[in-house]
Amino acid sequence: MRLRTLAVAALSMLGLLAAGPTAFAGSHTGTSAAPTTLRGLAAQVGLRFGTAIIPFDLNNAPYTQIAAQQFSVVTPGNEMKWQVVEPTQGVLDFSGGDRLVAFAKANNDLVRGHTLLWHNQLPNWLTTGVANGTISNDQLRDLLHQHITDEAKHFKGEIWQWDVANEFFANTFDGGTPPLPDGISTNDFWVKHLGEGIIGDAFRWAHAADPKALLFYNDFNIAGEDGTNLKSNNVFAWVKTMLAQGVPIQGVGDQGHLDTQFGFPTRMEQDLTRFASLGLKVAVTEADVRTFVVDTATQQPTDRLAVFATAHYYDQMLKACLFVRQCISFTVWGFADADSWIPGFFKGEGYATLWDVNLQPKTSFFDLQGDLRLAKDGAPHRTGRGADPDGD
Ligand code: XIL
Repeated sequence: MRLRTLAVAALSMLGLLAAGPTAFAGSHTGTSAAPTTLRGLAAQVGLRFGTAIIPFDLNNAPYTQIAAQQFSVVTPGNEMKWQVVEPTQGVLDFSGGDRLVAFAKANNDLVRGHTLLWHNQLPNWLTTGVANGTISNDQLRDLLHQHITDEAKHFKGEIWQWDVANEFFANTFDGGTPPLPDGISTNDFWVKHLGEGIIGDAFRWAHAADPKALLFYNDFNIAGEDGTNLKSNNVFAWVKTMLAQGVPIQGVGDQGHLDTQFGFPTRMEQDLTRFASLGLKVAVTEADVRTFVVDTATQQPTDRLAVFATAHYYDQMLKACLFVRQCISFTVWGFADADSWIPGFFKGEGYATLWDVNLQPKTSFFDLQGDLRLAKDGAPHRTGRGADPDGD
């Protein structure tokens, strides 16, 4: 009797009684065969765990070994951007993207294509031609149509999700009160020359070229990271309008570039759920969590608490995705601090990825592993093409 009471007390302290009869389910199964990699653990709930490949160094053995073992979907950091695929007008070079697709196939990964329409990383001949008037707006539209068609056709059948359009919405930090009425930046290169309608056209052209790819709108700070949720609201209203007009958009990607100097976006799960309520897939497409560092070489945080903060932000971000069944992939924007884009773009910051400068896994990595272990019994299982790691 006394023993039983003690046992019950011990179990309730562990919080196991409240969890009900299924609390132990799965916890002791397949101990030796239980997955430990991010891709293997994520597969248990049908989630694809991804990385961008940056730098594009698939000859570096320790680097490619981690990429192959840990991730089940890959995004080219730069190799599918217009600047890279058409450096000289009319001369197409898809070799980088082809190499990534081959790497993905060899490792049974899927591919996120990135990106067909963006104001950044455009070829010089294009921006120069527009600036000096040798490329008219009508020609610019034709060139874009051609570019999207060429690229989406080239990779037809190889791309799971395409980031068709990237970063069109104004940010609260752009200034202006109130920020632009419909949220689409009027300063955007494409909007300035061709009007907002060009975004919907890009989706139509991509769909015509590769009807089976899931077409995504991708942006940052669209899951409450701006503190106001204004950008998320604006993207939500716009996507709803696009869908009502029959524009073929199948998903919304939140990039997930977080910074410990700002609070964690507490609306992330709700915002992802709201996009999903429109019948869309959602994804976290470029996750990293930056913080201030002592120097770029070691990337040690200036504040030791940042070790916990970065891990906590990663953990919360992954959980937001895990809890939303329509969140089909969680992709980090590079996995090694030494290769991250952060030190080059955000002065004094770094420590943003899951592996340190010596390619050792960090606290954030172990926390995500733990989350995925728990998710097996606690998160909804995703279905569809990406959900089956051995699927097509
Ligand atoms: C970055 C790349 O990682 C860098 O190598 C490149 O110099 C600039 O672009 N949002 C995006 C990505 O959608 O394409 C960007 O990638 C990071 C921010």
